[in-house]
Amino acid sequence: MAEQTLVIIKPDAVQRQLIGRIFSRFEDKGLKLVAAKFMQISEALARKHYAVHTGKPFFEGVVRYLSSSPALVVVLEADGVIEMSRKLMGKTFGNEAEPGTIRGDFGASRGFNLVHGSDSPESAAYEIGLYFCPDELVQYDLGNKDWLYGQND
Ligand code: RTP
Ligand code: MG
Repeated sequence: MAEQTLVIIKPDAVQRQLIGRIFSRFEDKGLKLVAAKFMQISEALARKHYAVHTGKPFFEGVVRYLSSSPALVVVLEADGVIEMSRKLMGKTFGNEAEPGTIRGDFGASRGFNLVHGSDSPESAAYEIGLYFCPDELVQYDLGNKDWLYGQND
């Protein structure tokens, strides 16, 4: 199976009605959607999601932010999807992220940053398990997968 990542279109993006424009960046890249859930993330779940940041100065704020309003949680799949998604997202906050990236194009905030993406295979497995049961990950082929992911050999 190809690599998977958890991407969240966060509460500020939902409230600003940017879901379609942000998700299209991942779709345009050719990353395969295998699961999706539109949900209000509970405070308890947000704490688990950001558990690696427990105790840091921004921890309580980021928990409040993630659980403040609904979010769209998705799983994307492709070889190298974790790094590709992080590159599409850009640096952590929009005030520093490069133009052309999601955070660089849609935000200037130093606190709200529109999207989340797993940062390693280990965190992807942990995060996907927080939001989805195994049978919610849909297995299928994209009809144009050879053109999307193929090599000229
Ligand atoms: P994310 O996990 O949400 O994809 O973001 P990231 O990898 O770019 O950043 P990370 O270091 O994992 O931080 C997680 C989230 O915590 C908030 N944060 N605030 N005030 C601060 O210095 C600070 N640093 C991080 C952000 O909401 C970030 O997305
Ligand atoms: Mg992170």
